[in-house]
Amino acid sequence: MNPRLRFSLVLFLSLALSPAPSLSWKEEEFRNCNQTPFCERARSRTPGSSRLIASKVSLSDGSLVASLVDRDDSSGNPLSLTLTSYQDGVLRLVVDEDPSFDPPRRRFRVPDVVLPEFESSKKLWLQRIAEERIGDDVELSVVVYLNEDYEAVLRRDPFEVFVRERSSKDRVLGLNSHGMFDFEQLRGKKEEGQEWEERFRGNTDSRPHGPQSISFDVSFYGADFVYGIPERAMSLALRPTRGPGIEFSEPYRLFNLDVFEYLHESPFGLYGSIPFMLSHGKGRGSVGFFWLNAAEMQIDVLGEGWDAYNDGKIVLPSSLKRIDTFWMSEAGIVDAFFFVGPGPKDVVRQYTSVTGLPAMPQFFATAYHQCRWNYRDEQDVAEVDAKFDEHDIPYDVLWLDIEHTDGKKYFTWDKVLFPTPAEMQRKLAAEGRHMVTIVDPHIKRDDRYYIHKEATRNGYYVKDASGKDYNGWCWPGSSSYLDMVNPEIRSWWGDKFSLQSYSGSTPSLYIWNDMNEPSVFNGPEVSMPRDAIHCGSVEHREVHNAYGYYFHMATSDGLLKRGDGQDRPFVLSRAMFAGSQRYGAVWTGDNTADWDHLRVSVPMLLTLGLTGMSFSGADVGGYFGNPDPKLLVRWYQLGAYYPFFRGHAHQDTKRREPWLFGERNTELMREAIRVRYSLLPYFYTLFREANTTGVPVLRPLWMEFPSDEVAFDKDDSFMVGNSLLVHGVFNEHAKHVSVYLPGKQSWFDLRTGTPYPGGTTQKLEVSESSIPAFQKAGTIVQRKDRFRRSTAQMVNDPYTLVIALNSSKEAEGELYVDDGKTFDFLSGGFIHRRFVYKEGTLSSYNVAPTASGNARFNTKCEIERIILLGPAGQPKNALVRPGNLKTEVEYGPLQLFGTGSSNVLTIRKPGVRISEDWTIQLS
Ligand code: NOJ
Repeated sequence: MNPRLRFSLVLFLSLALSPAPSLSWKEEEFRNCNQTPFCERARSRTPGSSRLIASKVSLSDGSLVASLVDRDDSSGNPLSLTLTSYQDGVLRLVVDEDPSFDPPRRRFRVPDVVLPEFESSKKLWLQRIAEERIGDDVELSVVVYLNEDYEAVLRRDPFEVFVRERSSKDRVLGLNSHGMFDFEQLRGKKEEGQEWEERFRGNTDSRPHGPQSISFDVSFYGADFVYGIPERAMSLALRPTRGPGIEFSEPYRLFNLDVFEYLHESPFGLYGSIPFMLSHGKGRGSVGFFWLNAAEMQIDVLGEGWDAYNDGKIVLPSSLKRIDTFWMSEAGIVDAFFFVGPGPKDVVRQYTSVTGLPAMPQFFATAYHQCRWNYRDEQDVAEVDAKFDEHDIPYDVLWLDIEHTDGKKYFTWDKVLFPTPAEMQRKLAAEGRHMVTIVDPHIKRDDRYYIHKEATRNGYYVKDASGKDYNGWCWPGSSSYLDMVNPEIRSWWGDKFSLQSYSGSTPSLYIWNDMNEPSVFNGPEVSMPRDAIHCGSVEHREVHNAYGYYFHMATSDGLLKRGDGQDRPFVLSRAMFAGSQRYGAVWTGDNTADWDHLRVSVPMLLTLGLTGMSFSGADVGGYFGNPDPKLLVRWYQLGAYYPFFRGHAHQDTKRREPWLFGERNTELMREAIRVRYSLLPYFYTLFREANTTGVPVLRPLWMEFPSDEVAFDKDDSFMVGNSLLVHGVFNEHAKHVSVYLPGKQSWFDLRTGTPYPGGTTQKLEVSESSIPAFQKAGTIVQRKDRFRRSTAQMVNDPYTLVIALNSSKEAEGELYVDDGKTFDFLSGGFIHRRFVYKEGTLSSYNVAPTASGNARFNTKCEIERIILLGPAGQPKNALVRPGNLKTEVEYGPLQLFGTGSSNVLTIRKPGVRISEDWTIQLS
């Protein structure tokens, strides 16, 4: 059978046999590579087809600059190349049209993503360069210093940039090593017979500036797997898209889209795009590559043997195992960053040094959120709120979706359903709870609506290709879209969140940004036409993937202004781009209430974490459809470990608050949510770690165990910080689950305290009451085990420390605490302790730069319980210093989440504060 036909048949059958919702995903609504001319052109390039050479290489302003010219044809304009080295092993390569040759227009460089402090203070000022002959090259290559261990090489002919280890000279990352670089320069005018317009499903893209795409190959050396480039619902490790045996696969697409009822196992790109890829391998560790470009991007991961059919011209050092990739973008420039690693945590640190660290959330935002489309009216809100208390289920935030507004006009309230919104929020606030309302970027074209009136008057909307305010269709009907790329418009938007301007809002109200891809129901591929115009004559095609990022930024800045810069904003966004981590949380959009979507949430969130977006979650319960109670319970059990933990559902689904499925299920969901609340001190410490290092809260196993090969492509389990490993239960009838426990140390079951050896796969019985979760030997985890209605009531509660000893009878952990709300932590208002257990003594040390007993923030919180798991011996007493107080220790079954069987040692009420130095000696 013709292979194309066979593929279509397989696709048809798999769609036809899948459960009903997947039929709704309409593949034909979206362009594939063959329907996207730039992608089709780029993909037809062969290795060695680039004829560029680097000439006129020199130093300028501390960077290496060069001209890229065609080896065989001197009639074209050269391209300008700049190579800059930054601290901590970061290399930046910029290639653009050379302005001295008067290109027809300036190509778009994405502003506002690279941190100003990165550009201003991290640059290494190159003073001199070394030259070297590579192989039998006629031209000498230029070598640039990166750090003690790495250097970059600009090869002149053929043009190539690569990073290598200084001592071994082994390559780690290379660009254009296969000679596939192509840069379509702007032509200004159409040549006769040329067609620049593009048509897709009745939409015409006028493409007034013609072809302008860029493509090149990137090679990751010593890599066993590559990861990253969200957002898509598929495995953590990226599978090859091209090469022998994978003829019909599509490249990974990065183009922010509102994909209705997306499939659970599909490489198709969803709401957000982060053009950052990392590799990991046993021999070499990790490296990363980031292309700052907001136009549509397509990326091929090339399978082994993909270049077997080249003519043999390109021969890369063969002893090095590598993964080759091919990057294509419709417009923009090359602004690429190489990160040398060598560990996975080094790569995320390097990446976030460029694009920013994840924002530190308020404490309440790390707890449980309750959402649905829609809580109908104020009475509904009051009832839901009361039911949580009635059923002893903690929660912190109640969300209102689009129906709370007056006709989908954001910043307004439906006067009948929500007559006293401020009062409603105050009632929640009195219980220490918060509210979130939705604010989308489409503005109803209604002449009586103040936002529309001002935006029209000020010319704040994105324009269509003819220069009129772009008019598209979304929830409110006919709508226009604010041009968030313009800082003046962002500032104006931010002012709309002030308490005076947003009538009915109170300081405990926070915001949800949805539909910001942007979603346009009647637009091409459900989005904005690419030839729409933003400020500075920027075409939408050039900035598309960053539109949602700018909207998120403007909203977050608005909340900052509202609180006079005192309180940390909370804004959830659906669309995202590189750098979105600075503005708040994201979620994985409209998933489905089935087991496969539960399963795929894990690799989706792991990938987001690897690419900076630590604060992320999936709709608990699944957005579309009605989850079976078993699925719902399992989803709560897994979601309790998502960094962002929110239940949400589509308006056509049945109500599914945790008390609606019988007593036993209520109990199970309550228990799952309580696990989260009790672990909040640990989570909050991890949020701070992400906020200072970029290392995400949720981590793939290999990030903690970089040399454990079995862990490299595991994505049914994950680490929460460095101490906990969690494995989901993804099957309704599961009686057993096989869990791989990485590393050489043991693991302790979180509920029972039962130890398991590391480096083994354990087939474990599962009950309905929990999913497998373990604490790593050698760690200390902090919890607050008194159950409260919400985080506000937990502030002064005492802590429990769980010490899991390793075979040397040692363990350590950290605790970070601040006021949970303001920015005081930036000026030292926090407590940061390290707990170390060694030689039978637990010690608490200050690791904050300021002394313990910090004047800006302090707490009287005590430790009420210390639990020791593992080989503690049989001590009888605990001596607490200072004070020389002796207390007896207890032995008994572990009583954490339920009752376990192992006999564990517990020290009760040692009477020590978490803010002070002390030791507890066991004897
Ligand atoms: C789409 C969002 O993804 C979903 O969460 C929300 O409920 C609807 N829009 C309605 O606002």
